[in-house]
Amino acid sequence: MSKNKFIAYENVFDEATLRGLFKLSGQGYFEEIEGPISTGKESNVFTVKYKDEKRVAKIYRTSANFKKMYDYMKSDPRFAGVKGTKLTIIYAWAKKEFRNLLKAREGGVLAPTPLAVHQNILIMEYFDAPLLQNLSPKKPKEFYERLIKEVIKLFKVGLVHADLSEFNILNLKEKPVLIDFSHALDARYPNVQRLLKRDMENLVRYFNKFGLKLDEETEFERVWTHRK
Ligand SMILES: Nc1ncnc2c1ncn2[C@@H]1O[C@H](COP(=O)(O)OP(=O)(O)OP(=O)(O)O)[C@@H](O)[C@H]1O
Ligand SMILES: [Mg+2]
Repeated sequence: MSKNKFIAYENVFDEATLRGLFKLSGQGYFEEIEGPISTGKESNVFTVKYKDEKRVAKIYRTSANFKKMYDYMKSDPRFAGVKGTKLTIIYAWAKKEFRNLLKAREGGVLAPTPLAVHQNILIMEYFDAPLLQNLSPKKPKEFYERLIKEVIKLFKVGLVHADLSEFNILNLKEKPVLIDFSHALDARYPNVQRLLKRDMENLVRYFNKFGLKLDEETEFERVWTHRK
């Protein structure tokens, strides 16, 4: 990425983020920033160019609500020691999403492969697919059955997504891709049962709109029964 490429983003990112992007592009993770795909509550998501492919850069804003992030992380045994400044916590949050994605991929879950994490910047695989929210499944029952298989795979490697809904699932030619793993947490987390229940309630609510007759408790149990 040439210095010129930075100029367009000078007012978008703070100094440290620009330096981080420069470092990652220097290490060969991407060549240039293409453009924004989404501006979320805590992060901005961009596509970046890498050779002939696209990748995704998810950049947590350094003005993000780090207190909420901290509260969320402190009960996760993997991050129990995280404390300190706002930036330390935001950087740990990005690292948490990276590790969650890595674990999900190791468990064979259909999710973006994480490629690099540095400071508040996460580089990952791009999927050319709309959100489930924007493209309903053609066969809801089949789609749901594929989806619950992914949720079970994730649970078996010790993770609960904890922010699962049609807003964090892509519809890749009728296959569910799970995204947005920043909230995902270790299945040993004390509240994990409640969070998994909430995830399953969201899915049941969405799929029952298509005439399915899923029961929240039954669907929760289909996953929970795999706990170790
Ligand atoms: N790997 C990816 N491939 C394709 N599109 C993606 C990918 N990751 C994110 N997106 C797009 O960017 C949007 C925002 O990403 P994501 O859900 O991870 O962040 P967010 O909801 O802003 O998260 P947070 O609540 O952590 O700020 C998604 O809704 C999706 O449209
Ligand atoms: Mg999201």
